[in-house]
Amino acid sequence: MHEVPPAILIIVGISGDLAQRKLLPAIRQIALAGALPHKFRIVGISRQARTAKGIAPNDALLEDMLDMFQMDVADAGEYQRLSEYLNHIEQAFGEPVQRLFYVSVPPQVSQPIVTHLGTSGLAAHPRTKLLLEKPFGVDMTSAETLVRGIRAHFAEDQVYRIDHYLAKEMVQNMIVFRQSNALFRRTWNKDFIERIEIIASEAIGIEGRATFYEQTGALRDVVQSHLLQLAAVTLMDAPAAENWPAIPQERLRALQQLRLAPGAVTDAVIRGQYHSYKTEVANPHSAVETFVSLTLESTDPAWRGVPITLVTGKALHRKTTEVRLQYRDSDTNEANRLVLHIQPDEGAEIDLWTKEPGYEHKRKRHSLHFSYGEHYTTLPEAYERVLVDAMRSDHSLFTSSDEVLASWRILAPVQAAWDMSSDDLITYETGADPLSMTQGSHASTNRP
Ligand code: BG6
Repeated sequence: MHEVPPAILIIVGISGDLAQRKLLPAIRQIALAGALPHKFRIVGISRQARTAKGIAPNDALLEDMLDMFQMDVADAGEYQRLSEYLNHIEQAFGEPVQRLFYVSVPPQVSQPIVTHLGTSGLAAHPRTKLLLEKPFGVDMTSAETLVRGIRAHFAEDQVYRIDHYLAKEMVQNMIVFRQSNALFRRTWNKDFIERIEIIASEAIGIEGRATFYEQTGALRDVVQSHLLQLAAVTLMDAPAAENWPAIPQERLRALQQLRLAPGAVTDAVIRGQYHSYKTEVANPHSAVETFVSLTLESTDPAWRGVPITLVTGKALHRKTTEVRLQYRDSDTNEANRLVLHIQPDEGAEIDLWTKEPGYEHKRKRHSLHFSYGEHYTTLPEAYERVLVDAMRSDHSLFTSSDEVLASWRILAPVQAAWDMSSDDLITYETGADPLSMTQGSHASTNRP
């Protein structure tokens, strides 16, 4: 295992949902796996006076490594005090320490924090890193402004933009699967693959996040980030096994070649809203989409003409994320399909045609299935990977600013069309099947 240099992890937003549900449990797991640096502290930033015990109740392991620091992150004057506090910890370590600022707060709050880290001199401190959570803007223009704001104070290699989907074990496995299986490596192109579907369906609704979701919607929440990244990992040239650092550049190239399928936006895009959404957000006029399906194509000669459909939604029949590759054949009874199960039941499945036992020459489709669950008891959580990689300065599973801009560019025509009218928004019942939704059978058109 690589030795990770000593680190201070400064969590802005320590009492928030993400820190509580994902970050702190991930740190606990990394500690149990023995993968934390030999010297490590968490500094939790909170506006109110909070104790480590209050943040990590009944958890002596976390409580022991956590120091709380009370400050108002909107107040530029307070960063000097924070700087002194961090210097103090560093002196106690007695050796150079990396400082990771994990900013897990809404974008309107994160931008001033980035500026204050810059003007206070904290950004320029050697070995300082900035970990940012999405959303990275709401459209191309706002993303450009954010990127400029960050570049004013941080070098690109100091910045770690998190898309936790990239850090999911099965997404990393997609890369290995493509690199390491000659059968699939050689057939991973338009000559063999007819179409690609990338589906992330969720059974949960918006879970009380009304204000956030009313400003966001499924296109910004999941398509711009997670689904376009899954598409990039599917379509990119998979670099050789030892060359993981080349992956962000390959993903970027894949994104730069993606665009909406030709024709009107309305032909290539379906958007929907689950039935009880308006009541849940207490906005009878809301036109925010909780479901999107859109079809893209790539100008990459390896993929020209292959439709790539991205589908996501909330309040659907089940939680599942998968990448489906439909192989070509003139006879559909001979076409194979490969499904990469990102979650749950992480693994891969390929359809095979077999002879049905008996006196006739009948064919029957069965599947060959590899499931991680049959071979390993647990898989690391994505946030464990995120934290370990950031501490190891490994950028391969983080999105660069150019990738963020490239993905907003792909969606710009959809956003422009949606700004003009919401007449195409359909309403669907909770529990709908996303694939039948794309054929319109579970949905009814709602023209306000
Ligand atoms: C987040 C979105 O980025 O991803 C949520 O903001 C969504 O709306 C979540 O529920 C899905 O993540 P996962 O890991 O549960 O599939």
